[in-house]
Amino acid sequence: MPEQRENLTSSQPWQALEHHQKNLQETSMRALFEADPERFPHFLLKAAGLTLDYSKNRINRETPDKLMALARHCALPERIEAMFRGDAINRTEARPALHIALRTTDPSASLMVSGEDILPEVRQTLDRMAAFVADIHSGKRKGLSGQAFTDVVSIGIGGSYLGPKLVTEALTPFHNGLRSHFVANIDGSDISEVLRQVKPETTLFLIQSKSFGTQETLANARVARDWFLRNGGSESVIADHFVAVTTNRDAATAFGLDENNLFPMWDWVGGRYSLWSAIGLPIALSIGMDNFRALLAGAHELDEHFRTAPLEQNLPAVMAMLGIWYNNFWHAESHAILPYDHYLASLPDHLQQLDMESNGKRVAEDGEPVNYPTGPIIWGGVGANGQHAYHQLIHQGTRLIPCDFIIPLRTHNPVGNHHTALFANCLSQSQAMMRGKTLEEARQELSEEGKSPEDIDRLAPHKVIPGNQPNNLLMMDQLTPRTLGALIALYEHRTFVQGVIWGLDSFDQWGVELGKQLGKGILRQLEDDQPANSGDSSTDGLIELFRHTAQTD
Ligand code: F6P
Repeated sequence: MPEQRENLTSSQPWQALEHHQKNLQETSMRALFEADPERFPHFLLKAAGLTLDYSKNRINRETPDKLMALARHCALPERIEAMFRGDAINRTEARPALHIALRTTDPSASLMVSGEDILPEVRQTLDRMAAFVADIHSGKRKGLSGQAFTDVVSIGIGGSYLGPKLVTEALTPFHNGLRSHFVANIDGSDISEVLRQVKPETTLFLIQSKSFGTQETLANARVARDWFLRNGGSESVIADHFVAVTTNRDAATAFGLDENNLFPMWDWVGGRYSLWSAIGLPIALSIGMDNFRALLAGAHELDEHFRTAPLEQNLPAVMAMLGIWYNNFWHAESHAILPYDHYLASLPDHLQQLDMESNGKRVAEDGEPVNYPTGPIIWGGVGANGQHAYHQLIHQGTRLIPCDFIIPLRTHNPVGNHHTALFANCLSQSQAMMRGKTLEEARQELSEEGKSPEDIDRLAPHKVIPGNQPNNLLMMDQLTPRTLGALIALYEHRTFVQGVIWGLDSFDQWGVELGKQLGKGILRQLEDDQPANSGDSSTDGLIELFRHTAQTD
């Protein structure tokens, strides 16, 4: 652990922020807006086609400097350089985290990892993907009955699912290729419902697994293969219909896949950062390779901004440090992602994995427990729907919940005045969270409605909205491959920055292992008839209960 990380909470920048928080505690954002007419332009940032209004935060003009002092204390600039240089920043797994390499657009760039330039293989893979997508789209590569492919079923879970699904859905207006379906869960209903929608002779299956060892993915891949063989397919044409993306070529070929149908992955790409690799094939098959390259270019533009912009004007750094501000100095426990764009409905799911799998950790890189809260709960959903569901709790509940509103200025579907109304909803929620409603305003409102003094006394406290709920407004001109690439890269780097401040390894995920290990033993016990012996009476009792139910079916 870098020396400057020791005793983070007693460091001068941390202490200065604690002091600053106490000074700001009694100041409302309303008052801050009233005192500073230039607050909006002052707290406005633009990069890579994205615009961030962060004026509705519990900050004054001094706060960013204090936050960035902490970032510098934690060696953020050096850590950014280390990531881009390809240092082994994933320390527990002794490897770099180089998703940024997947979107390098300079054809002459090189990036050395363990003495080898990794970029030629990245470019070759993109070219292979392009050739593959072209062959599928043109109908040159056909299915078993000589018909062109119409559907792609992508089988994968976690990072091998959430990112491709998000992007494929979000770029629906750009679809010019195959219909996409995604299967992730070990719940048989997931794959059954998808298989009901497709025909074996025109369906391409993509097995997406970095490890090619994930139980859910392999079980679903077996079901897909059996279904294909039962419905007109044969071993001789499996190669035409089944393709995999993996680092584990041996396991994929042992599964019966053709060597020529394997696209590579690399151990220096984390699963939740992998949509930019061949794991993005379902995206490319849906929107075409030019659009896929535009997605990479948008992410690259944001990467360059992240690498070169001063911290105070650095979009990911600013958003990350605001998150640190609330998480560690105002005791917020969650962070809401509120996209006001129907195409971004899966964004909260993707960011949940990205952030919570990266920073849901309780020991620092050196194995010592941290003495401060780390990654918050990430949640959210699409607006305006959420306004009629959980926004009540944000407005009047007892918790501090920083929110990110995300909205494009132009829509792909200009229907009536829908988009103006959507924008109005987004802005009014953002404003309501900031301003709230005072007791005087509530009383005045009730009086204007002609309520009696008794009713005013009775109802006014229920209508008070404390406000002062911090929120960012993140905008783009329109949701396109480029701006979406930049948006996702922004959150990736935001996550990285927070991991640096907390001293975590944001690129491992040991916590998910225990469930996987125990799962194997429990599955074995559910399937045999020996007395359950899992180690606790609850699990034993539930094993017996399931077996009993299964036997009486
Ligand atoms: O859930 C843990 C995890 O390892 C994720 O990090 C990963 O994205 C997912 O499983 C899928 O892994 P794989 O691509 O190896 O099947």
